Amino acid sequence: MASKQVLALLLFSAVSLLPFAMGADIVVGDGNGWMPDFNYTDWAATKSFAVGDNLVFVYSGGDHNVIPVGGVEFKACNGTGAARVFTSGRDVIPLKTTGRKWYLCGIADHCQRGQKLVINVLPATSPAPALPPTSSSTPIMKRTFQAAMVIAVAIAMMN
Ligand SMILES: *[C@@H]1O[C@H](CO)[C@@H](O)[C@H](O)[C@H]1NC(C)=O
Ligand SMILES: *[C@@H]1O[C@H](CO)[C@@H](O)[C@H](O)[C@H]1NC(C)=O
Repeated sequence: MASKQVLALLLFSAVSLLPFAMGADIVVGDGNGWMPDFNYTDWAATKSFAVGDNLVFVYSGGDHNVIPVGGVEFKACNGTGAARVFTSGRDVIPLKTTGRKWYLCGIADHCQRGQKLVINVLPATSPAPALPPTSSSTPIMKRTFQAAMVIAVAIAMMN
């Protein structure tokens, strides 16, 4: 009985050691999806975005698309020079770096009609408040290693 409790405690600590365990899938526009005549600035103001989260653009494939652009192109609703165009109708875009990100729909006048999104991506949220969010990969690897060790010990105890 006692060893089971220790095991549970060990597994719990292992999980809490894992860095950035959960990135959120954020559906752009929530139930409205990705469409013109919707104010994505107002929508984004109600959300927070962090490294590790995914933006999910949901729309009827062919009717719209998603083009990551720079700030200048965003203002001008100009997606013509972009490196990538997402068209699947359920485009999952991982947020990998902090700072401003801009997206627009390149079809017809949709961008002019508000189908454009600018967000500010914050550093990844860490389960340990003591760990500064700007920390390099070294402490992350160390913590992952610690978590793996704890799991290994727990598994050994089960035998
Ligand atoms: C759109 O942007 C591209 C480069 O990204 C540029 O070559 C083109 O002139 C721009 N078009 C307009 C209408 O500003
Ligand atoms: C969205 O609404 C804000 C006010 O809440 C307004 O300032 C902004 O121009 C609107 N954006 C679009 C694209 O309509």
